[in-house]
Amino acid sequence: MKQRRDALRTRRQAERWKRKFERHRELHRQIRAAAGDILESNNFMSTKGHIQHGDMTVNQHCVNVAKLSIAISEKLHIRCQREEMIRGALLHDYFLYDWHVGDAKKPHNLHGFYHPGIALNNASRDYDLTPRERDIIEKHMWPLTLTKIPRCREAWIVTTADKWCSLLETIHYVHGHGKVEGVEADQKTEFMEAKKASTEKKTRAAK
Ligand SMILES: [Fe+2]
Ligand SMILES: [Fe+2]
Repeated sequence: MKQRRDALRTRRQAERWKRKFERHRELHRQIRAAAGDILESNNFMSTKGHIQHGDMTVNQHCVNVAKLSIAISEKLHIRCQREEMIRGALLHDYFLYDWHVGDAKKPHNLHGFYHPGIALNNASRDYDLTPRERDIIEKHMWPLTLTKIPRCREAWIVTTADKWCSLLETIHYVHGHGKVEGVEADQKTEFMEAKKASTEKKTRAAK
């Protein structure tokens, strides 16, 4: 009896996993169809070397935000321009540096405030953005960037998806494949040394 129950539970679990896997494959297919050029570009690939939150890379974070944006729009039956939403979601954090690694010149202390502008500049340089895509990238940090209020439903969906993904990454509910420990430790030391040198220089100049 117990064996039969166990077998049934295992089969249900397997079916659940299979549905989940199929769902993710379908979301990935949609993303590839809408933005294959972005996924394969060197700059976007380089974001695999940058950490977003926890051990999640910026690359995986952006793909996750795109997937969740599609899921939200489907679940809530929100009519939207799917392709633009996906492209905007992939490019929303296209700032192309690791914000955990600063130096005395660019400490990235205010990264949360200024990175949407940098991402927009980089994305405008590399792609012909539509007004919706621009809105998604520029406004995704609202309400932190108080005056940059999303003006289209695609931007509202992406900013919501971004917050949810960021929360799960920050509390380590979801995991990525980023190498945080070694990179951060080394570069933090470099940063601290550069900062110390800059302070000493200022002190010497003031004397
Ligand atoms: Fe962001
Ligand atoms: Fe983000």
